[in-house]
Amino acid sequence: MTIRVGVIGTGSIGTDHVKRLSSQVTGSTVSALYDIDTERVCEIASSVGAVAFDGPLGVIDSPLVDAVVIATPGETHAELTLACIEAGKPVFCEKPLAPTTEECLGILEAEIASGRRLVQVGFMRRYDRAYRTMKQAIDDRSIGEVLLMHCLHRNVSSPPTYTSSMPFTDSVIHEVDTSRWLVGEELVAATVVGVRKSAYAPEHLLDPQIVLLESASGILVDVEVFVNCQYGYDVRCEVVGELGVASLDPPRSTATLMTRVAADGVPPDWKVRFGEAYLVELQDWIDGLGQNVIAGPSAWDGYCATAVSQCCVRSLESGGRETVDLIEMPAFYA
Ligand code: NAI
Repeated sequence: MTIRVGVIGTGSIGTDHVKRLSSQVTGSTVSALYDIDTERVCEIASSVGAVAFDGPLGVIDSPLVDAVVIATPGETHAELTLACIEAGKPVFCEKPLAPTTEECLGILEAEIASGRRLVQVGFMRRYDRAYRTMKQAIDDRSIGEVLLMHCLHRNVSSPPTYTSSMPFTDSVIHEVDTSRWLVGEELVAATVVGVRKSAYAPEHLLDPQIVLLESASGILVDVEVFVNCQYGYDVRCEVVGELGVASLDPPRSTATLMTRVAADGVPPDWKVRFGEAYLVELQDWIDGLGQNVIAGPSAWDGYCATAVSQCCVRSLESGGRETVDLIEMPAFYA
């Protein structure tokens, strides 16, 4: 069985997903596309033999489409995801599920009313080999009870439109999801800590920043986010347990990472670092759809991640510790 996928949004990651789904993932084909950039979408459509539609509902409602990928900017996600649920079609929505918890709750409500899981959120780190090995070490209790997590999220440079809250809503949202997933607990509070500003960050942007996240049982997760670090895309994570630690391999055994000098071994961007994870993620989604199963990150995971990232933004604004407001998990997602 071949799953015919419609993709909405053919920018950076959308185009990569089109390529993966049309030529690397087995069991899928890309049949329909839409993007507000009509020239670009027509070019991509002709390269993979898909139909370019002139609106998102054309893709979602098309009889040529069995399932939909949403890879447009976050503020469009809720409306498009709701339209997919309304059409009864499985939808893979890139992170964030939506920028506000109110919109996420609307999606949960619609999915529950539909009676079956239709939504998967693009938290691809859960499909990364190294993160999966860490999860195994936590789940089989070989490092004992988890006490602490240390995370780093660094990018070479940020786009000019990046504001001081975006490191949390765009970047740390991945650490939020991986922390919840790794330790199997909700995050309940966030405190953003000011750091000396880099001269290489734009004038308007606080960079780097540190946030301390607290889990329900008291596990503390510190995350450094530095989106103008200059030398490479560097993601690290160490989970400290009572009996040992589980960590992603650091890019080098020691020392100095600098632009053009010693940053070999550090990938230039997320496309390189998580290339395999994106592929495994989509293959898993397509394999599941073939059996009417959606087992990846759910709309509930998307809602929780947005709630925590919004809490970080509140802490940035208030300068103090803020608590996460979550509804009780509906039985549908248990
Ligand atoms: P992008 O700006 O490169 O692409 C967005 C595309 O959406 C553009 O082609 C634009 O013309 C199109 N677009 C904008 N509004 C639209 C609308 N109303 N209807 C149809 N098309 C519209 O952005 P990028 O980096 O590809 O990000 C897209 C989404 O993917 C974002 O939500 C982002 O957070 C997420 N993302 C996730 C990553 C991950 O690691 N899981 C990595 C990069 C992006």
